[in-house]
Amino acid sequence: MRRKSSFPKAMLLATCALTTLVLVPAAARGEGNLTLYCSPQIEWCQLVIAEFTKATGIKVAMTRKSSGETFAQIKAEASNPKGDVWWGGTGDPHLQAAEEGLTLEYRSPRLGELQAWATNQAKASNYRTVGVYAGALGFGYNTELVAKKKLPEPKCWKDLIRPDLKGEVQVADPNSSGTSYTMLATMVQLLGEAEAFEYLKKLHRNVNQYTKSGSSPIKAAAQGETTVGIVFMHDAVTMAVRGAPIKVVAPCEGTGYEVGSMSIIKGARNLESAKRFYDWALTAAAQSLGAKAEAYQVPSNKGAATPPQAPKLGEIKLIDYDFAKYGTSAERKRLLEKWGKEVKSLPQ
Ligand code: F6P
Repeated sequence: MRRKSSFPKAMLLATCALTTLVLVPAAARGEGNLTLYCSPQIEWCQLVIAEFTKATGIKVAMTRKSSGETFAQIKAEASNPKGDVWWGGTGDPHLQAAEEGLTLEYRSPRLGELQAWATNQAKASNYRTVGVYAGALGFGYNTELVAKKKLPEPKCWKDLIRPDLKGEVQVADPNSSGTSYTMLATMVQLLGEAEAFEYLKKLHRNVNQYTKSGSSPIKAAAQGETTVGIVFMHDAVTMAVRGAPIKVVAPCEGTGYEVGSMSIIKGARNLESAKRFYDWALTAAAQSLGAKAEAYQVPSNKGAATPPQAPKLGEIKLIDYDFAKYGTSAERKRLLEKWGKEVKSLPQ
């Protein structure tokens, strides 16, 4: 009797499962959708999702937040992940996310098409992240304001702590911004930690605002709201290309750089779409889109077109930025806490 009654029940369950598969539309099962956390410039994020949807039919819900903010969000959502892919933003917090097990190991078939600096990022994270673009840190200044205020042209990091630039410099907060964390880690690597913090304390006197987003300071400089903005050089180039009176500077002492990265979020609800986006975003065609959005980073796919306006990394004095060290959870937390205690809390 028991055997007889359990058989139809199993059949019934199987039939129900089949019905679910057949009748529930793909979108409701989570296929054909993607939730993207995007950290580069909003114009590029919008272009990328439009082109990806055109190529695949997958609909994308996107939010743009700075690198540190996105890391914090993914961490806060870890027990109930809402995002599928984190595209762009500086590599350090992507490495930290990898180390903390917040992102998923994935080896794209496109890895062989990438520059060594992009695959090194993948290797350092056990394939939980990968490089999508690179860009050098620097600053830009408003040439009209410099002329009007009769200031000598700043060319070096050391110029930004001159007393005549008091209140004239803007930079983001390294807690929210990957750009600003890159600056903090760059100073430590260029000057040694003790001297770097002395430098940052002096710089603090000249800072008129710590913004949330890394590129805001150069937008403010373009509007004449600050004389100098510390940013990635490509963000300063964008303002100059748009016709703002901005001069782009590669600091004379040398500078750090970013490997903008991409990761799949662990627990992604739309895993297949996430992998499709990941593979697509590594293609030469997808990476050649940057210039159309006035994004002048250097793409990681060897076959992608580097925009002619992109700062030439080979001609800039770049430090040997230690991503493995400054992308660790312990080091990033330690430096950010120290900066908060010893620099940001000081009166200006
Ligand atoms: O504006 C583009 C960009 O500079 C990217 O190259 C970089 O990865 C990202 O912004 C960093 O933004 P944030 O400093 O706001 O984290």
